[in-house]
Amino acid sequence: MGLLKRLRLTPELKAELERLRDDVHADPNKLPILFWLRAYTILALERDTVAVRWAKLAGFVSRTAREFGINGLDHAPGRALLTAYQIFQAVPLDGGAAVADAAQLRTLDLGRDYQIELRPAYQKDLARAHDWVVATWTELSETKDGGTLAGVLARWAPVGQSGLLPALIEAQELEGWLSRETLVAIAQSLQVPLSQIYGVTDFYAHLYTQPVGKTFIRVCDDVPCYLAGSSDLLHRLKNMLWVRDGETTEDGAYTLEHVPCLGHCADAPVAMFGRMLHTQLTPEKIAALLNSKP
Ligand code: FES
Repeated sequence: MGLLKRLRLTPELKAELERLRDDVHADPNKLPILFWLRAYTILALERDTVAVRWAKLAGFVSRTAREFGINGLDHAPGRALLTAYQIFQAVPLDGGAAVADAAQLRTLDLGRDYQIELRPAYQKDLARAHDWVVATWTELSETKDGGTLAGVLARWAPVGQSGLLPALIEAQELEGWLSRETLVAIAQSLQVPLSQIYGVTDFYAHLYTQPVGKTFIRVCDDVPCYLAGSSDLLHRLKNMLWVRDGETTEDGAYTLEHVPCLGHCADAPVAMFGRMLHTQLTPEKIAALLNSKP
C-alpha cells in the first residue's frame, strides 16, 4: 500500500485506477481487466510510446495470459478496460480523430483499424501507471487467500461455472497443486461435471494435477529469450537439478519448466524463481542463484 500511496499520478487517473482496483477486490473475475492494463503498460514502455496497436496488445495478452490462469483469447476484459474506465482513447490508424466516448468505443473494430493510448492528460504518467499496476497486481495476489479450501468454495460456489477458473487457481495456491479430492470438492460445490474440470486443467498448462516442487523455476524460451541464450540456462538447470523440463526434483524443492514470454524481452534472457523475476541471466548467474537458495 505504501508504494501505491506514494505514486504521484494525475488525480483523475489515480481515481480511475483506484476504482479499477476496488472493482477487482470486489469481484476477482475482473482481474483480467487489470491484466490487460498491465500488458499495455509493459508494451508501451518497451516500445517507448503510449500508442499500442490493439492487435499487438491482444497478441501479447494471448501469449502471456495463460501463465496467470487467465483466458488470453477473451478480448472482453480488454474492451471493459476501454469502456468502463476513463483512461484510454482509441486512435484510428489512418490518422482520424481519437475516440474516447465509451458508447462509441464499444462499436469500433479495434483489431483491424485502431491503436489505443492513454488519454492526453495521462500520457506523462505512463511509467508511474506501470508501477501502479505492478504494485496493485502484487497486492491483489498477496491478499487473495481463501485461507482454506472451504473459504475458496464459499466464495465461488454462488457463481457456479463462471467461478471455475478462479476457484481452481485459488485452490491450487493453497496446496501448490490440485488433488483429485480437491477437484471433486470443486465439482460438487460449483456444480460443474468433473470431466469438464479435467478439461480445464488439461488446457491450462499451469494448473497441476500432480504434486509439484515448493518453488517453480520458469525459464522463458520465447524468441527474444531463446536468441539471448535461454536454452543454455535450461541446460545448466537440468544438469544442476537432475531433472528434465517439466519435472520436479527428488526432494520436492523445485519444478523446472519453460514458459512463453514473461513480458521483459528487453532484458532477455529471463527466468522466474517462485514469484521473483530475474533478468539478463547467464548460466553462471543462474547457477549462483540456485546455489544461494537454502
Ligand atoms: S521473450 Fe519476452 S520475456 Fe522472454
